[in-house]
Amino acid sequence: MLAGNWKMYKNPAETAAFFQAFAPVVADQEQAQIVICPPFVNIPEAVAAAKNTRIGIGGQDLFWLKEGAYTGEVSAPMLQAAGCQWVIVGHSERRQYFAETDETVLKKTQAALESALTPIVCVGEGLEDRESGATENVLRAQFAGGIAGLSREQFARITIAYEPIWAIGTGKTATPAMAAAAHGFLRSLVGGQFGEAAAADIRILYGGSVKPDNIKGLMAQPDIDGALVGGASLDPASFAAIVNY
Ligand code: 13P
Repeated sequence: MLAGNWKMYKNPAETAAFFQAFAPVVADQEQAQIVICPPFVNIPEAVAAAKNTRIGIGGQDLFWLKEGAYTGEVSAPMLQAAGCQWVIVGHSERRQYFAETDETVLKKTQAALESALTPIVCVGEGLEDRESGATENVLRAQFAGGIAGLSREQFARITIAYEPIWAIGTGKTATPAMAAAAHGFLRSLVGGQFGEAAAADIRILYGGSVKPDNIKGLMAQPDIDGALVGGASLDPASFAAIVNY
């Protein structure tokens, strides 16, 4: 699975232009699940442009209630009605700038599942955690607070993204071995909580400075099932090179 997280980039016209260039060059790609997560206002454009392609569309966030007086928020049923099949939950930028916690990550994940959206639940350690040897402790805590509270049935329908914060937008990708170690650790947490079959089945994406020139090495790791791509997903040629690696 190759997913693009556009973050706060592109307007509707730029979204349409992206798909015009991108869709034809990935049309023959039948092995990978391709997903684009644009800003909310571009979802109608993206859904229309992705019609009759194998490209899925997702939101970058959601609120856990269905509707109400929550100015600025967007709900799972709204995303679903707009044509989304996916939604990113708990991205580190949401955690850092918008006070997202493991508790809200769990609530949003459950809300997404209730609306038959597939949540892409993000976890990952910061630079200080990595340097002080706390990576596994951070991942264990994020898993315990944000994911372990799901039922087995709910868990079977999520995707996890491991995004080390120090690798996001920095050009410092985790080496394939570092990423694989973190994915292996996450899989062991999944095994302990949801059983070995769940650990084998769960799709874990890597995110953090994924580019056309490093995707192959990352995807060669058996524990890495795909990528969540920021900057390099904004350019149709570079994201197509990643998808067609
Ligand atoms: P970059 O690919 O720009 O490092 O961003 C990664 C990311 O945060 C994807 O969600």
